[in-house]
Amino acid sequence: MKKPLIFAHRGVSSQCPENTLAAFRRAIEVGADGIELDVHRSKDGHLVVCHDETVDRTTDGKGIIQEMTVKDLSQLDAGEWFGRSFKGERIPLLEEVLALLKPTTLALNIELKTDYFFYPGIEEETYSLIHTYGMEERVILSSFNHHTVLRFKRLAPRVRTGILYSCHLYEPHRYATSLGVNALHPPMHLASSEVIQEAHEAGLSVHGWFSRERFDETRARQYLGSGVDILITNYPQEYLVVREKG
Ligand code: G3P
Ligand code: MG
Repeated sequence: MKKPLIFAHRGVSSQCPENTLAAFRRAIEVGADGIELDVHRSKDGHLVVCHDETVDRTTDGKGIIQEMTVKDLSQLDAGEWFGRSFKGERIPLLEEVLALLKPTTLALNIELKTDYFFYPGIEEETYSLIHTYGMEERVILSSFNHHTVLRFKRLAPRVRTGILYSCHLYEPHRYATSLGVNALHPPMHLASSEVIQEAHEAGLSVHGWFSRERFDETRARQYLGSGVDILITNYPQEYLVVREKG
């Protein structure tokens, strides 16, 4: 069975502050196959890489991203909360990450965080950046908001798309096929062999991720042999070692 590709979830977020350029550079260094990151939009219309709707958890500031300008955001430290050596890390623009990845071979899973704020027009703006950097073949666009995925798909049919979910969907392969997307993005506890097999038979890929992840080598072997096509993990370096061992 083909072993899955290993994507660094929010960058190498077990070693670096999540969703920072340090975490993405580390993913390149450890030899990850790709990166996953989360995107919101600032008050002045820039696409920025951050997981939460607010900056409170991952920076030294407070505020809602869509009420802050890029200048406001650029003044925040997004690294020191994780470790003093990361002091000075900033919330990156999506464009900075595309520029970082462009000369590499890494793939990029862009998760549009339109779960609470819908950021009208974010699909076009995201595609425009992907197109500018010529990254259509290397991006996978996903969201928990499936309206977002469909809007994106209509305007960028060449870019692969996946539906994120975290509930026990009934026959997810049928649902995904009805939407015309390319992949399921379930958490690994919902990626049963039945879900994976039915998805593959329907011509879909399965890209699994973890909620509240802890690394354990025995479990890692099971996940690597589960049949998923991509594993999106906070521990890409450890997974790469286990995958290499065979
Ligand atoms: O894209 C996979 C995973 O990132 C989804 O959950 O909350 O970590 O963005 P979350
Ligand atoms: Mg995410």
